Amino acid sequence: TRSINLAVIAGDGIGPEIVSQAERVLDRVAELDGFSIEKTPYSLGAAHWLETGETLSEETLAALAQHDAILFGAVGADPRSAEVPSGLIEREVLLKLRFAFDHFINLRPSRLFPGAVSPLSNPGDIDFVVVREGTEGPYAGNGGVLRKGTPAEIATEVSLNTAHGIERLVRYAFELANSRQRKKLTLVHKTNVLVNAGQLYSRYFNEIAAEYPEVETDYCHIDAATIYLTTDPSRFDVIVTDNLFGDILTDQAGAVTGGIGYAACGNINASREFPSMFEPVHGSAPDIAGQNVANPTATILAAAMLLRHLGREDSAARIERAVEKDLAAHPGATRSTDQVASDILERLGE
Ligand code: NAD
Ligand code: IPM
Ligand code: MN
Repeated sequence: TRSINLAVIAGDGIGPEIVSQAERVLDRVAELDGFSIEKTPYSLGAAHWLETGETLSEETLAALAQHDAILFGAVGADPRSAEVPSGLIEREVLLKLRFAFDHFINLRPSRLFPGAVSPLSNPGDIDFVVVREGTEGPYAGNGGVLRKGTPAEIATEVSLNTAHGIERLVRYAFELANSRQRKKLTLVHKTNVLVNAGQLYSRYFNEIAAEYPEVETDYCHIDAATIYLTTDPSRFDVIVTDNLFGDILTDQAGAVTGGIGYAACGNINASREFPSMFEPVHGSAPDIAGQNVANPTATILAAAMLLRHLGREDSAARIERAVEKDLAAHPGATRSTDQVASDILERLGE
């Protein structure tokens, strides 16, 4: 069996702390399941920018393109780098990677594992997946500023939505819904106000729905979706939504399933022309960086998604089982970053 050629971008803030723990888990799983992982670290992020003035060069991008997959921690605010312009690293490293490698599916599963403590008094059975668009919407970077610095200044952000982008997204979401037990797909948008993009989304959603008669469909406006995610999260199975709505909804999803430290994300290039990239949903958490308290579970679950993407279903399931058992054994416990990983490591063989 061929070895996995993995790029590792630890990044800023808690990034290096959580990624090193996920690497421990990956190494152990490879040993147990008899394959090898060749890891190449890439030093990208705030510290790298401060040292070199470079965010992500074309050479580095070309080198990254040669890997089977990328494991990513987080970039952005870092206690060591107060002087980095806000958002620069996020846009020029993370978003640039998503765009360059055509990560049009931003896949974010949410489950309330037994033992995880939801802030909801009656959370019910939470098990849904958000299929967030990854390369379009307001993230496309269109827009600009007119009459800068004057009282008449105008700032625009244009949401870019293409038929091609929406069709491939919605198809992926229907396929996923069809493969799950409940077979329910909810489109989340704001079609009452964002009519142009809203109509394009609705049109593809309805057209493709006809090809999947087994899949039950539903629609929610984004504002109401946040209500249901709080009052009745078990109503959701698969959610398909645009880039920005998906960003916001998945932080909320992390919170209701016991914390953002459990929420994993796959940036998937479903055509497999480029490497896909796996990361936690959360950011660099500068408020807790360097304290060995960040929860590494999201990154460990992202590593499981990475293995599944590369066809190693058994190894992915092995990690997920270990995480489930670990949580069930330590309900509501406060543990250090490396302790959580050590506890998960011990259960990998079970
Ligand atoms: P954040 O996700 O970093 O933190 C939000 C809250 O969640 C904080 O209270 C933090 O302590 C907590 N938190 C996050 N991860 C945790 C973990 N693993 N365990 C326990 N608690 C955790 O969001 P933010 O504060 O809005 O952003 C901080 C920086 O990260 C910003 O620069 C932002 O742009 C960037 N960011 C990067 C990514 C990424 O690289 N993928 C994602 C989101 C935000
Ligand atoms: C995420 C993050 C990013 C996003 C930021 C850091 C650009 O919040 O991955 O959820 O908005 O997609
Ligand atoms: Mn986010």
